[in-house]
Amino acid sequence: MDGTILSSMKKGYLISFEGGEGAGKTVQIKRLRDKLVAKGFDVVVVREPGGTVISEQIRDVVLSSKNIGIAYTTEVLLFQAARAQLYRELVLPSLEAQKVVLMDRTRDSSVVYQGMVRGFGVEVIEQLNNISTRETYPDITFLLDVSVEVGLGRRAQTDKMDRLDMETKDFHQKVREAYLTLAKKNDHKRWVVVNAEKSIDDIAEKIWKTVHTRLVQA
Ligand code: TYD
Repeated sequence: MDGTILSSMKKGYLISFEGGEGAGKTVQIKRLRDKLVAKGFDVVVVREPGGTVISEQIRDVVLSSKNIGIAYTTEVLLFQAARAQLYRELVLPSLEAQKVVLMDRTRDSSVVYQGMVRGFGVEVIEQLNNISTRETYPDITFLLDVSVEVGLGRRAQTDKMDRLDMETKDFHQKVREAYLTLAKKNDHKRWVVVNAEKSIDDIAEKIWKTVHTRLVQA
């Protein structure tokens, strides 16, 4: 059974999903989780900001559409606070226990949204990320890339609009470009760009092929 592969590894495996609004991360994470579980892997799924009782409380503050007056610095630090708690409480212990951790956003969301689009700078955000995550990087980061039109169109079909969804189209365009820039640099050789305008099945297959190859080779 494939799940035994991880027991020969020192640590578990961390896979993150990144992208703008309406990229379809949630559906793909669920698909990948089901596949991995069927293969015998021990899988943990978490979303950022959130994932623990404390981090979910921070999420309520940072994403609430009531908090339109939140200062950018506050936003930066709240995302990091939620992350620090999540890594201490769940992500790092799960990796120690050789589990596969699937993350719906993590450090690169801060690099893109706060570092590159809000203009805080990548370096300072990465320093904070390293504190929050204890210098942990994903083994694979899937960028689900979708045009702003398609992404916002998908999002408009749900009633799930938070403070950041309400940003301008220009903001979302910058988010998309920032992600593509990061993926192109491909630091740590972990980025995989997926065309998220394809069908759910096509995307799931591409993701599974990559994960299967990497996990077997790990
Ligand atoms: P969420 O409803 O989870 O959005 P999505 O379904 O698009 O993932 O809200 C998360 C929002 O928070 C999203 O707009 C991106 C933003 N965000 C940051 O700006 N910085 C961060 O570090 C994280 C984790 C999220």
